[in-house]
Amino acid sequence: MKSICIIKPDDWHLHLRSGEAMRSVVGMSAAQMGRAIVMPNLTPPVKSAVQARAYHDEIVRALPEGSVFKPLMVLYLTDNTSALDIQEAVEASEVYAAKLYPAGATTNSESGVTDVSHIYPALEAMQKAGMPLLLHGEVTDPEVDVFDREAVFIDTTLSQIVKDFPGLKIVLEHITTKDAADYVASAPKNVAATITPHHLLVNRNHMLVGGIKPHYYCLPILKRKQPHQNALLAAATSADPKFFLGTDSAPHDKHAKESACGCAGIFSAHAAIELYAMAFDGVGAIERLEGFASKFGPDFYGLSRNSEIITLEKQSWTVPESYDFAGSEVQPFFSGDEITWRMQPC
Ligand code: NCD
Ligand code: ZN
Ligand code: ZN
Repeated sequence: MKSICIIKPDDWHLHLRSGEAMRSVVGMSAAQMGRAIVMPNLTPPVKSAVQARAYHDEIVRALPEGSVFKPLMVLYLTDNTSALDIQEAVEASEVYAAKLYPAGATTNSESGVTDVSHIYPALEAMQKAGMPLLLHGEVTDPEVDVFDREAVFIDTTLSQIVKDFPGLKIVLEHITTKDAADYVASAPKNVAATITPHHLLVNRNHMLVGGIKPHYYCLPILKRKQPHQNALLAAATSADPKFFLGTDSAPHDKHAKESACGCAGIFSAHAAIELYAMAFDGVGAIERLEGFASKFGPDFYGLSRNSEIITLEKQSWTVPESYDFAGSEVQPFFSGDEITWRMQPC
């Protein structure tokens, strides 16, 4: 049986939620990942260093006995985030980045930024302190087609930020288009991107052919296989250190997704590294997985790589139909389907 050993990965984009929901899912990420950049789009959002520390402590208290998983906290930027808020976040040992959600772009982004000019003092402070800016890279203009919102964001907002803040570390999160992959590959080295397992493994046909499949609905929305999914596979397996692992695992109650107005988000924490292994193996690039999953992320953030090793075996298993989620259910990515790689317990 084919097996590989890699440095323990990290998840550079993860939604853990809070309370009972968080306690239902955090163990799955902790079983696979050394660290995770934990998204701040709670209700209410994590807007200050004090709130970030409280959320950090809540997560740590929920970890299984003996777990060494480290949550890396993120500040949620609003129109009112000041340079002082950033300074306080920089001084808080739990906070590693700040996140720009264009207001209204995605789940719990209502308090996000309405115009980036409002946060220029905060971005100035981040650039000075070396704190990365994480982006949900989509415009919200109702005139712009939902499939084009990432490309338009790059042409308008992102290219302007890159020009105005040449020393700011920027991560374009969960990229979904060839436009994004090409832009990041040719941008200066302070600009990187995360790629999700679902954008590598599926495309909009999975969501829309044969009936609407709400569990494939996420933002940015799944795109075409050619050129977009193929471009993401090429970028992830290119060994270019600008592209690294970020699952965007985003659990929602099954019933909130199976609705006349279903919410956006795909849950993948149950099998994150195995899903990536399957995607890489599918294009004959399993030997490139370790760089993407375990090296390029910490290198970009200026952190050390994990010292533990994990083993992955080529072995099929069937994903459960659902997992418990705060007394209800969450339907995982690939539910009821086979995954061809499996992480072995250490
Ligand atoms: C995320 C969520 O549910 O919090 N949903 C999603 O579709 N990706 C928010 C986000 O990352 O945009
Ligand atoms: Zn997002
Ligand atoms: Zn996300």
